[in-house]
Amino acid sequence: MCGIFAYLNYRVPRTRKEIFETLVKGLQRLEYRGYDSAGVAVDGPNKTTDINGNSICLIKKTGKVKALDEELYKKDSLNLDQELNTHFGLAHTRWATHGEPSPVNSHPHRSDKDNEFVVIHNGIITNYKELREYLINKGYEFESETDTEVIPKLIKYIYDNRENDEVTFSTLVERVIKQLEGAFALVFKSRHFPGEAVSTRRGSPLLIGVRSEHELSTEQIPVQYNSAHINGVQEKNHHNSSSSMKSTGEGRAVEYYFASDASAIIEHTNKVLYLEDDDIAVVTKGELSIHRMNRQAGEDPVRAIQTLQMELQHIMKGNFDAFMQKEIFEQPESVVNTMRGRICFDSNTVILGGLKDHLKEIKRCRRLIMIGCGTSFHAAVATRQILEELTELPVMVELASDFLDRITPVFRDDVCFFISQSGETADTLMALRYCKDRGALTVGVTNTVGSSICRETVCGVHINAGPEIGVASTKAYTSQFVALIMFGLMMSEDRLSHQKRRLEIMAELKKLPDLIKEVLSLNDKIKTIANELYQQRSLLVMGRGFNYATCLEGALKIKEITYMHSEGILAGELKHGPLALVDKHMPVIMIIMKDGCYIKCQNALQQVTARSGRPIIICSKDDLELTKNAYQTIALPPTVDCLQGILSIIPLQLMSFHLAVLRGYDVDCPRNLAKSVTVE
Ligand code: G6P
Repeated sequence: MCGIFAYLNYRVPRTRKEIFETLVKGLQRLEYRGYDSAGVAVDGPNKTTDINGNSICLIKKTGKVKALDEELYKKDSLNLDQELNTHFGLAHTRWATHGEPSPVNSHPHRSDKDNEFVVIHNGIITNYKELREYLINKGYEFESETDTEVIPKLIKYIYDNRENDEVTFSTLVERVIKQLEGAFALVFKSRHFPGEAVSTRRGSPLLIGVRSEHELSTEQIPVQYNSAHINGVQEKNHHNSSSSMKSTGEGRAVEYYFASDASAIIEHTNKVLYLEDDDIAVVTKGELSIHRMNRQAGEDPVRAIQTLQMELQHIMKGNFDAFMQKEIFEQPESVVNTMRGRICFDSNTVILGGLKDHLKEIKRCRRLIMIGCGTSFHAAVATRQILEELTELPVMVELASDFLDRITPVFRDDVCFFISQSGETADTLMALRYCKDRGALTVGVTNTVGSSICRETVCGVHINAGPEIGVASTKAYTSQFVALIMFGLMMSEDRLSHQKRRLEIMAELKKLPDLIKEVLSLNDKIKTIANELYQQRSLLVMGRGFNYATCLEGALKIKEITYMHSEGILAGELKHGPLALVDKHMPVIMIIMKDGCYIKCQNALQQVTARSGRPIIICSKDDLELTKNAYQTIALPPTVDCLQGILSIIPLQLMSFHLAVLRGYDVDCPRNLAKSVTVE
């Protein structure tokens, strides 16, 4: 997915080389989001001469950020040692949606050959065709196939048709976004407004980091509302508010970092401000202010500068070869972080602070609907059965895209859960808005504080797994799983009939970190099995009951990063089709645990072996019948049935990692995939 990074130094002298390094580093921190090309915009000579002496230079490249970095130093015309007291630079990684990956389709996009306005964009403009046609009729020439290019052209059109020279940069941007439909986070730079930055968002995340030697004069940035009509570009009330908007004090040295995600900012500052939809953040003379159109009822008139708790080491690879590998091995700690402060093992109580005020309402609901995409959907599948048991409510699990396609009936007395690691997945966010419009209670289960899903749901649970960088989700899955189990435990606290079951689950949750460590110690064995399998084209994963979700999620991991064909098969469906795939050449992994489906799973095993299949079995280490037999087994520590899925997914996470390495693929950045899919 596209990544935005921009850096403004005001009265902080930086050489051009230092500025490049900051921009490139910012992009590298966003690489994990997935991208196919990258570009920057900095002050510097353009091919055409500029009358004001300000000109903007664009450098864009297809491929990795490293390639862009090399390109920057090839520009002889840029004096790398030149010190710039104040400068604003844009940087972007693009994930192609409209038009192939190419320098001309890469961002920053420009208004014209003189680069009067340049912009970086994350999201999608749905009415770009109409805007493009309009602007072409007005004589504007387009050079790319992107939806984004209408934005710089439109701002130039508005600028060219301004009624006088008093127009501010933010007013121009305000008028642009009034015309845009779709989702966007945007950062603008213009040679007409040197040293000024304007950024805005609607539906795509954007945050601003602030670094200053001085104490920030306020932790709250007041929002300035335009009371006057917004259409007239001459209205000048942007700067005449009686309330102070200064965050740093005019004239003071300050640096600003704009990014689509906190991991690009955290090494510079932990003071950040998350923009809300339709906020326009402006930096003029080193001063940050937020503008909006007229204030809506219930809207907060301030934006708080928050302190990020995330540390750089959390987003670094450490001793691991890949983020995904690091994240798999972090699971003994990440599940504890999910439970920390919520489960009291002494009193056997669970309190999810974000839900407790809504518990009564949830208990009275008609049904629970759990909605997500990819791995987050699988977390819903994995916990459905135990939630049905503990809440005694009907539980529907829904893929967000399909849920919307079906225009699924939703009622005021439904409770809808939106499960998302990033909290920004467009399909899940759309489903959230759909349910909200129909009056259902909305609950977020996310890993990203301040994300759109967090903000737009009525209540929720942060899974607290820590930043997940690898595109293939691992620790977020096990933490989502634990968070949903905790919800079930909280819902059933006053049900006498469930007490035995609750205590059994809680006792096993307490042991979970040690059980996960034991599973991780099987890494070498799993690597050996991966060595036997990595040249295969296909891999089937079969199971049922509490382990069906493991099959789906295991197969997803395998296809995501190894590019092998892999299917998660419900063992109950075996004889209705998939059995036709089984012969002595087809590798099959079967999950057979000593739970309610044990006998049925053994039947499935017989059916596979009767067709000369030689399955690899994931089973419980106390299952002597399977482990002492001739089968190849991965034997896991036993635990209560509804938590088995947390343990049984780990061998498949490790397996997919080793298969991908053996097949020579980039584990953290699989082809065609993105960590955060902010387009429908
Ligand atoms: C993308 C990612 C998956 C992820 C899914 C949902 O497809 O590649 O790993 O499971 O989005 O993302 P979310 O952030 O909503 O959990």
